[in-house]
Amino acid sequence: MKVLITGGAGYIGSHACKALANAGYTPVTFDNLSTGWRDAVQFGPLVEGDLTDKSSIERAFQDHAPRAVLHFAALSRVDEAMAKPGLYWRNNVLGSLNLFETAVAHGCLDIVFSSTCATFGDQDDVVLDENTPQHPINAYGASKQAVERMLEDFETTFGLRHVIFRYFNVAGADPDAEIGEFHRPETHLIPIVLDTVAGERDHVTIYGTDYPTHDGTCIRDYVHVSDLVDAHILGLHWLLDGKGSRAFNLGTGSGFSVRDVIGSANRVTNRTVPTNIGARRAGDAIKLVSGSRRAEDELKWTPRKSTMAQMIEDAWRWHQVADYRQ
Ligand code: UFG
Repeated sequence: MKVLITGGAGYIGSHACKALANAGYTPVTFDNLSTGWRDAVQFGPLVEGDLTDKSSIERAFQDHAPRAVLHFAALSRVDEAMAKPGLYWRNNVLGSLNLFETAVAHGCLDIVFSSTCATFGDQDDVVLDENTPQHPINAYGASKQAVERMLEDFETTFGLRHVIFRYFNVAGADPDAEIGEFHRPETHLIPIVLDTVAGERDHVTIYGTDYPTHDGTCIRDYVHVSDLVDAHILGLHWLLDGKGSRAFNLGTGSGFSVRDVIGSANRVTNRTVPTNIGARRAGDAIKLVSGSRRAEDELKWTPRKSTMAQMIEDAWRWHQVADYRQ
């Protein structure tokens, strides 16, 4: 059975392709290679195309007739969204609209959508579960919230059933070190810390040490990419089994500050990462930690690898052998 993976050349999408292939599906990657890597497409065919160009999506559906779609493709940098909100609305919202319209036209009515905890905004001391009102504070979160809403409308009219996953911070790499996390430019904390350990950067700048947290730095809930993509397979099965549309938060419920992450990287790599203290980064929420067990209870999802040490260990292993980082 073919499954279309938009963004399959990216960090999370490529891990999803591997998990799908292992589960017996053929993952067909649809990607414009703007932030993804051709070399990360190792588990099924690649269709090069852009979601803002409807004819290229049409071609993918005609050539491959996918049974379902896992929709990862999106721009996802908060700093970029703050500087270029229109880019985020065009790419993430228009791109999704083109995808959903084409899927409906081809009778492909099962979609797993990658959303984000950024749709919740900055809600200090609120338990973030699936019923928490969404108040995004940047165009990235707002664009993802808009697509969530679009899915509801497409379900009402066309029966497009969907599973929405709201990711917290995804980290780690394939435990076999075949694929991993690599962005140019890199903005994510753990890859930056590991670049520094590897001597590719002089230091890590900590963006703000005056937040109201235990050590003054922002807190995030990190989930291992392998655990995250396992949830996507369960989400796909949920839809293929005919169950109704549902949103799930994907986090572990444990919060780690920036300094906690750097301390863990020091221990795992047995080095001391040089740090500098910088200003707060625009658009950053103070604390984003999932307060939900819905994915565990309903999807029977079990995050097995999402300890900070394991995520850094797997990311570090890949970092040292990764060929497409060269
Ligand atoms: N940070 C630093 N220094 C760095 C990089 C990051 O101090 O060099 C801090 C950030 O300020 C933040 C934390 O480390 O407090 C985590 O930052 P990341 O950039 O790794 O992750 P974000 O929480 O900003 O981003 C994640 C996803 C994004 C998504 C966002 C939504 O990776 O794709 O959540 O909130 F947009």
